[in-house]
Amino acid sequence: IMEGRNQTPIVELILVGFGNDPELQPLLFLVFLVIYIATVAGNLLIIVLVVADRHLHIPMYYFLANLSIVEICYVSTTLPRLLASLATGDRSISLQNCFVQFNFYGIFTTAETLLLTAMCCDRYLAICHPLRYPALMNGRVCGHIVAGCWIFSISYSIMLQAFILQLTYCGPKEFDHFFCDFASDGSFCGATRTLLLLVNFLMTVTITIGVFLCTLVTYICIIATILRIPSSTGKQKAFSTCSSHLIVVAVYYMNMFTIYVCSLFRPPAIVYKILSILSTDLIPLINPLIYCLRNKVVHQSLRKAGMKLVDFRLRQR
Ligand SMILES: *[C@@H]1O[C@H](CO)[C@@H](O)[C@H](O)[C@H]1NC(C)=O
Repeated sequence: IMEGRNQTPIVELILVGFGNDPELQPLLFLVFLVIYIATVAGNLLIIVLVVADRHLHIPMYYFLANLSIVEICYVSTTLPRLLASLATGDRSISLQNCFVQFNFYGIFTTAETLLLTAMCCDRYLAICHPLRYPALMNGRVCGHIVAGCWIFSISYSIMLQAFILQLTYCGPKEFDHFFCDFASDGSFCGATRTLLLLVNFLMTVTITIGVFLCTLVTYICIIATILRIPSSTGKQKAFSTCSSHLIVVAVYYMNMFTIYVCSLFRPPAIVYKILSILSTDLIPLINPLIYCLRNKVVHQSLRKAGMKLVDFRLRQR
């Protein structure tokens, strides 16, 4: 740290990413490009379906489309930058851009977590309080919740950023990750460093535990209610409206849990990078996949859209 102070301050970082093995770069570029295009296309498809199909104009799918917007933003904070550096071999990034990336990453992860939880509460109200559901959850309430998620995420990120901007970066010039993830990183020095770590830790723990407990409790109530439904078709029908969301949430928390457990054992950086790839790139990809394949209503809407497209092209000829 003392050495770092005497030198000129670092204004540019090297994002080590996945090394610079020239054999591997084109392959990695291709893999990430395919993941990126598939994620953006899949989520766009969901948004278009929800906007265009009147059958999907209910809170559950409004939430889903809004989640897709978040997912597109989320992959777009990390992947394009990684793709550019894989294509050009230029792995440097200015510290300022790094802060910007970290800020947006913070906004979108928080928004994603909050929206997933909001979707849980929506399913809980629909299944456990079906009679009061229309009064409690409608387009307007849904809009307020979505706006609330964004306002909270943005203000939380700006607050963290305000803390960070008071500090100086004094970590290594070579940042051993593929994007600027300063969250668990102690590479800052300055008077308010401990405060930053403390605030970040407390907020992360509170949000994570709060959101996790909320999800757990609502799903326990949902499953208990479904089990009490006498007819098996009724059971199936109720379950089918929340199974896609349950899978997405389960994958999400499994990934978070793995990252947490892994970080306890201080694994080599590559393990951590692969887990980050899973959470930053694959989770946004599986979300539209699961909904398009498993959710009957989305599935039907997709088929109708496909049929209309075929019809349209036939008439063109
Ligand atoms: C997001 O949610 C709002 C509020 O319900 C809704 O009006 C809007 O259509 C949703 N966004 C999309 C892309 O469906």
